[in-house]
Amino acid sequence: MCGIVGYTGDKECADILVNGLRKLEYRGYDSAGIALFEGDRIRTVKAKGKINEGLAPRLAQQPHFSASAGIGHTRWATHGEPSDINSHPIGNGRVSIVHNGIIENYRKIKEFLTEHGYGFESETDTEAVAKLLDYNYNGDPLDAIIKTVADLEGAYALGIIFREHKNMIYAVRKESPLIVGQGDGEMFIGSDVTAIIEHTDKYYLMEPGEIAEISKDGATFYDIHRNIIEKELQTADWDVSAAEKGGFAHFMLKEIHEQPDALKKTIHPRIKDGMPDFSECGLTDEKLNGYRHIYIIGCGSAMHAGIVGKYIIESLARTPVIVDMASEFRYRNPLLSKDDLVVVISQSGETADTLEALKLSNKIGADTLAIVNVVGSSIAREAKMVMYTLAGPEISVCSTKAYMVQTAFMYLLAFRVAYARGEISEQETKQLIAELNEIPDKVQKCIDSQEQYQKVAARLMSADSLLYIGRGLDYALSMEGSLKLKEISYIHSESYAAGELKHGTISLIEEGMPVIAVATQHDLYKKTVSNVKEVKSRGAMVVFICGEDMEPAENDIDCPVYLPSARDMLMPLVAVVPLQLIAYYTAVLKNCDVDHPRNLAKSVTVE
Ligand code: G6P
Repeated sequence: MCGIVGYTGDKECADILVNGLRKLEYRGYDSAGIALFEGDRIRTVKAKGKINEGLAPRLAQQPHFSASAGIGHTRWATHGEPSDINSHPIGNGRVSIVHNGIIENYRKIKEFLTEHGYGFESETDTEAVAKLLDYNYNGDPLDAIIKTVADLEGAYALGIIFREHKNMIYAVRKESPLIVGQGDGEMFIGSDVTAIIEHTDKYYLMEPGEIAEISKDGATFYDIHRNIIEKELQTADWDVSAAEKGGFAHFMLKEIHEQPDALKKTIHPRIKDGMPDFSECGLTDEKLNGYRHIYIIGCGSAMHAGIVGKYIIESLARTPVIVDMASEFRYRNPLLSKDDLVVVISQSGETADTLEALKLSNKIGADTLAIVNVVGSSIAREAKMVMYTLAGPEISVCSTKAYMVQTAFMYLLAFRVAYARGEISEQETKQLIAELNEIPDKVQKCIDSQEQYQKVAARLMSADSLLYIGRGLDYALSMEGSLKLKEISYIHSESYAAGELKHGTISLIEEGMPVIAVATQHDLYKKTVSNVKEVKSRGAMVVFICGEDMEPAENDIDCPVYLPSARDMLMPLVAVVPLQLIAYYTAVLKNCDVDHPRNLAKSVTVE
């Protein structure tokens, strides 16, 4: 949800900023811009559209200029449509800012400033902040920032430059993430490590409420009372290649291929003596045995991982699990108590609704466990307990490997809860873990049989609408399959519990309409096959995804997709791969921008 970069050093900074923005484009890509110190003035270049369509060509048209410090931004619009004027950086000749997040009281600030003679050009909340900074500025940038921040409501991160303080960058964080990178005689700011990793792996993580004053020689951090804060320099454990496509056509494809490895990295450290182990976060068997309910909260794919979690925890551990999307949970006055465990799942650790749902859960006094990919993110720090999925950076907006490892975590949790509650023996738990350990190889096998998925994609690419159907875990999984397809190929799809079809939705079936049936569960197999017959006899084009040990009714199937077999309970981890790759190849055939689907952003830091 908007990406911020900044650079000050001895190098030409326009290229550094634009490259940094390219790395952050997954956060938002409807416009981009940079503001640089050029001589005695601030030069701003910005444009609607993706970097390669807007900002980069516009920069190429500029007469030659030289600058060694500046700030940049790639936007996902909230206030004001994507346009040149609404693009960041925003300011006047004296102060220029880039902004991630939302300023809730911007109207009030605008009114105040209008009364004091300021005019406004854009529709953004950001302009109110830029002009308030200008209003408060009396030659001392820190003083202006402290006064301005005192009047802002909302969650935000800001990068700021003042014309009169050449080559200095100021940064402010309130909720929305921001880091300060340290190089050798050069300094950076960035919304995350990917923006700076090609230059340095050393960075400071700004905490909410902190202000940074940055020159090329280093950064000084202040609280809002201007007290200096000592901070620890961190080292990123992501290497440069993690933020590069590495020969793959798209990040999504690369990340799908990374899944076997990501699974191993996430699962292996959490197994001790053949048993799932949660001691790293203090989740003891005693605690697990005591919870009345488990709530699982997330958004998008993270929530879908939670739905698989519900099925397996309830069936193995006989413990009630409530799954909720964070945006609903936080406003429905949930029946949560101190005796409950709330598991929040998030790749970015910054999703606004998930963060607020977590805060609410903490307030009510429930135990909270965050399952998060990005180390040190807001959700990781807010939760009472945290465990990291170790998937490495996920750049493609469409989540694949993050979903995979989140779902794997659900299995580890389900096994441990079931064991702690005495529902399964140690031997049974170890057997389940042994089978979970075999999943990465099966995922690899699925990835290796891409031809099957390409054939399916060729049948789907001209569809206007389609259905995913399944029962039990297959239904839970098909929600993720449907989301993948609509996100990146723009084909409307719905996932439907196969048994519920004939209560209305079957009326949508007409000649040639694709129906993707997922049938990996032996006990439900015949039931799903009956549902397939129902849609087939009404003209559907049936794609049938099943284990290789199953015998599909050939007459009813147009495109079979076979999967390596695993215990039924574990099949979602295997069967999600064809769903991801079918969506991927369909989007490719339709010439869609796979990594940057329209209207979306990876990290949704506004509610
Ligand atoms: C956005 C992304 C989804 C993601 C969801 C939750 O909508 O496009 O892919 O599943 O946010 O994100 P999180 O970072 O909390 O997992």
